[in-house]
Amino acid sequence: MKHLAVFASGTGTNFVAIAKACAEGRIPADVAIMVCDKPGAAVIERARELGIETFVFDPHAYASKADFEKEIVALLDARKVDLVCLAGYMRIVGETLLKAYEGKIINIHPSLLPAFRGAHAVEQAVAYGVKVYGISIHWVNDQLDGGRIIAQRAFPYEGSDPEEVHRIGQKIEHELYVETINKLLCER
Ligand code: GAR
Repeated sequence: MKHLAVFASGTGTNFVAIAKACAEGRIPADVAIMVCDKPGAAVIERARELGIETFVFDPHAYASKADFEKEIVALLDARKVDLVCLAGYMRIVGETLLKAYEGKIINIHPSLLPAFRGAHAVEQAVAYGVKVYGISIHWVNDQLDGGRIIAQRAFPYEGSDPEEVHRIGQKIEHELYVETINKLLCER
């Protein structure tokens, strides 16, 4: 049995999609731990409902990123985590975690990278008048939404409502993330 860690900061719909796919055998792994850097985020309650262990921390309570990442690495090591899936984890991964889990951290992003990196990708794409939107999954490096692309899925949208783009995109995210994790684990 392989072990995943999912990192999230917000609602956690991708986390739920991954956790359910694991529970239903569509991903040959379990979610060993959900890591959240936002005490009070909705994803924490979702993890509780699914019976998944959580590590919730307040980055401001630590002197440095290295300090909280050391703690995270120890938790991941203890659970023999094979793959770390960032799912709306709105924080750049630091050297400590990157070094320890090099080549084992992936992220999902709501644009066709390398276009529109950062926290407001959909809003920026709509403002730009984009007609083809998309979702990217990529290996994580020290750059914001950087790293080699693993999978992408595009969809046409001619309107100007960011909420609608988010809705269409999230449905694709949930499918694409499950498919991609499954593929990566089967290749290992
Ligand atoms: C997702 O749409 C993900 O692509 C995005 O955060 C959302 C989290 O949603 N990530 C980024 O923008 C990374 N730069 P969720 O909490 O419902 O899974």
